[in-house]
Amino acid sequence: MRFSKSDRIVVLTGAGISAESGLKTFRDSDGLWENYRVEDVATPQAFHRNPELVWEFYKQRYEQLKTAKPNPAHFTLKKLEDFAQTNFSLITQNVDGLHFQAGNNNVLEMHGSILRCFCVKCRNNYPISDVDLEKPIPFCEKCKGMLRPDVVWFGEIPYHLEKINILLQKADYFIIIGTSGVVYPAAGFLQTAKYYGAMTIGINREKPANYYLIDKFYLGKAGEVLPKLVDEWIE
Ligand code: APR
Repeated sequence: MRFSKSDRIVVLTGAGISAESGLKTFRDSDGLWENYRVEDVATPQAFHRNPELVWEFYKQRYEQLKTAKPNPAHFTLKKLEDFAQTNFSLITQNVDGLHFQAGNNNVLEMHGSILRCFCVKCRNNYPISDVDLEKPIPFCEKCKGMLRPDVVWFGEIPYHLEKINILLQKADYFIIIGTSGVVYPAAGFLQTAKYYGAMTIGINREKPANYYLIDKFYLGKAGEVLPKLVDEWIE
């Protein structure tokens, strides 16, 4: 199999692609959801009930992020974007910013980013580096409303869905990397892309829940499998 420069390549990544950068996934053993309950830290209701606890969770994750670096899988996607240019699109469920750090430009962060927050009252945005994280709950400089991480929680609508839908419909290849395929709407993207005629490819350390929709599946670690595959595909 070989990509040509006119092929439209759409990639969806999940927490598994950042595992080799030292960041915990959600659902592997010792994953984040083994140590925290989703309902306590990743819903609008949780933030309403206990914003301090929610901030504590995201502050810890931001701390871990400060030392995390992109791994060979992230850099390989930068190589793929350099090859396919504007025919390449990267959709990520990750909130760690590592795809941007690796140099990718065409990235849609559908679940937001830990590196940003916004005021729940006036919606003003702040880079997290400008926020005083010593405070249990940071407040907006403009209106004194509470700030919250710009992360899409369970029960909220992900970003960029219209754009993503168009990309999926036009894709020649749709590749999923490091995602368990259980969280919707992202888990449904394989079905859309396949329905509209894309070849579907998966790279994961286990078979994801939507494995049956994958035409070519490669079992293994993204940082080991992806660089070799992409070398073959763009040779
Ligand atoms: N290479 C490839 N795959 C890996 C690797 C690796 N090095 N390490 C782990 N994986 C796989 C796991 O086997 C698992 O199937 O990555 C997948 C990670 O799955 P999840 O932890 O469920 O992460 P993800 O699919 O991104 O979760 C989706 O759930 O809680 C929410 O909002 C959160 O965006 C997240 C969403």
